[in-house]
Amino acid sequence: MFNPSNFRSEFPILEQTVYSKQLVYLDSAATSQKPNIVIDKEAELYRTINSNIHRGIHFLANESTNAYENARTKVAEFIGTQRQNIVFTSGATASINIIAHSFGELMFNKGDNIILTRMEHHANIVPWQMVAKRKGMEIRVLDFNEDGTLQLEKLPEMIDQHTKILAITHISNVLGTINPIKQIIELAHSKGVPVAVDGCQGIVHQMVNVEELDADFYSFSAHKLYGPTGVGVLYAKTKWLESMPPFLGGGDMIKNVSLENGSTWAEVPLKFEAGTTNFIGAITFGEALDFIKRYNFSEMEHYANTLAQDFATRLLEIEGAKIYGTAPNKASIVSFTIDGTHPMDIAQITDKLGVAMRSGTHCAEPVMTHFELKAMCRASFAPYNTAQDVDTAIAAIQRAVRMLRAH
Ligand SMILES: Cc1ncc(COP(=O)(O)O)c(C=O)c1O
Repeated sequence: MFNPSNFRSEFPILEQTVYSKQLVYLDSAATSQKPNIVIDKEAELYRTINSNIHRGIHFLANESTNAYENARTKVAEFIGTQRQNIVFTSGATASINIIAHSFGELMFNKGDNIILTRMEHHANIVPWQMVAKRKGMEIRVLDFNEDGTLQLEKLPEMIDQHTKILAITHISNVLGTINPIKQIIELAHSKGVPVAVDGCQGIVHQMVNVEELDADFYSFSAHKLYGPTGVGVLYAKTKWLESMPPFLGGGDMIKNVSLENGSTWAEVPLKFEAGTTNFIGAITFGEALDFIKRYNFSEMEHYANTLAQDFATRLLEIEGAKIYGTAPNKASIVSFTIDGTHPMDIAQITDKLGVAMRSGTHCAEPVMTHFELKAMCRASFAPYNTAQDVDTAIAAIQRAVRMLRAH
């Protein structure tokens, strides 16, 4: 059985007070906190094997290269694929930019179209807009219903012979909706359209098997999954990695370089890893995955969902509270507004009471626009949160509302 207090005790940052109040961290959708084992691993690596990978022949270089490639294997196993399908990047944003650029160079022509959804994070919108503009393409947008579920019945008619890719999030970082991604991929594939999944939130809330999903691409960041910042993963099917041109050029991604005859590329996945990667971070991420594997993922998720549901129920008891995203299949993310108060004010006051919540557009301005809002508050729950965190957060929000309404 998942033991929340044992799990929580691994995260030293949660023990601290802010403004003399016990910290209540409800911003895990932005970044997760790190367990001791991850924090210690990074320091240990710098103390012991730090040395640039794939270059030196000395002892340390071999140690760090082996550890890095071992981390690649751990990531591959974690998401059910082979190591040559894993590209280490600096984060999900970098992963999506690689797809948009390199897949775009391979496949996109003037007059083609890309399908996105209205619930995408900016990281899964802007790179596609950039390539669409460069190539003279159309962007088609799949809408969502008021509860935050996608209008999937509209997807078949949006696809035509010029549709080159569907880029879609697995789980919305604002609405919390868990999209039926396997079914969506099946539908797109039945019409010959490849699918790039933004798995930033998906990887946090579900065990993901990219090969079972049959995703063409799956991108995520280590920092949301208990790992370090500055490390991301791009999973891609071998056929795409082999046929796509590289995005960044530089050291380590080449086979040969000649000033007279040009350059040739390294084998995949190294073709997409130009320059010195964050190898210490990638190795540390491998440690984070070992840490997660010690726990039962679905039990952890169930626990975090219970907290989020309790929070949502009690939030709605506050007059004028509205929750955005009420899909039946939803992750532990609760975005909300309270009539007559500004989300920034709520977040600022609750912060002074020790409660760290996010407020703003959550890098998903089209979602805000859909609801005719400029901002929302968001409380996102992780398995290290507690029932006490919910009590404190609700009390803090009630107090903020009272203060704001008194003015
Ligand atoms: C759904 C989604 N996609 C993409 C991103 C971008 O991730 P990163 O900033 O780590 O590149 C995030 C981060 O909030 C996200 O939640």
